[in-house]
Amino acid sequence: MSTIANHTGIEKVTYGVTDLDQAKAFWTDFGLAPVENANGHAEFAAQNGASVEIRQADDPELAPPVGADVDATAREVVFGVESQADIDALEANLSADRDVRKDADGSIHTVDPVGFGLGFRVKQAKAVQAPELEVNIPGRPMRVNRRAEQVAKASPFEISHIVYTTDDLENHKEFYADRLGFKLTDAYPGRGYFLRGSAAHNHHNLFLLDPGVGKRGFHHLAFEVGTIHELFGGGNNMTRQGWDTMIGPGRHPISSCYFWYFKNPCGGAAEYDFDSDVVDDGWEAHDWESTPENFAEWCLGEGMGEALLHQTIQRG
Ligand SMILES: [Fe+2]
Repeated sequence: MSTIANHTGIEKVTYGVTDLDQAKAFWTDFGLAPVENANGHAEFAAQNGASVEIRQADDPELAPPVGADVDATAREVVFGVESQADIDALEANLSADRDVRKDADGSIHTVDPVGFGLGFRVKQAKAVQAPELEVNIPGRPMRVNRRAEQVAKASPFEISHIVYTTDDLENHKEFYADRLGFKLTDAYPGRGYFLRGSAAHNHHNLFLLDPGVGKRGFHHLAFEVGTIHELFGGGNNMTRQGWDTMIGPGRHPISSCYFWYFKNPCGGAAEYDFDSDVVDDGWEAHDWESTPENFAEWCLGEGMGEALLHQTIQRG
């Protein structure tokens, strides 16, 4: 069974939270714009319109939780697709062996093999373009007689990727890659797989990581910002507002981006990224050695959520 659909990237991620006000404060400080704020429910968007929705953890509309943080974690990711034909193909495929709900807006919703909520809708995210970055490189000055910008607060452009820990890695990867048609961008064979939508150009929209300790759960959600100044300015603002760094700032050798992760009261972490690899079918996937130094070329501060990686699993 194989379906190749044209997935375009992350459209929406929904969290179940116990403290709605704290979650709203986090995403506001992170730089997302409020688009909805109703009783027990709020939604915040990046500049391209991709959004984070927060609901009370016991909201019956939420997909069941996966992992130990049963009342505070990401419950569903909705990926965009290019057309209704893609939705129809995915619905037919997924309905073969699992319940698929179709909402009034045409989106479809189910769970993946490990239990994570998964949806698809026709793409609504807009194309965005950050202002040109003027940098002074020796022999190539672009910013003459002007000081570089300082950014007081980030305003992320898009949601680039979501990361799950999984204890069923190969089966999990095969579901997305072989069955749904996501493309493999890079791999830690047997330990982790970087996957992107078949019509997306982010280095990865989904990273599946087996920490080797029988762990399954949400790990983090990543957002792309427009400049290195925005990454530092956004991170400094989060720190000023009292949010704790998980790890960063630093730079990933795989995907090439500068990063800064913050612990998220909604569950897991939220990551600012800048200058991530952009790929198309000319990209050559590479198998990487699974060593800790591959996570960061360099970084400051904290650790990669050790408690999150090692917590006891309760299968949802
Ligand atoms: Fe990430």
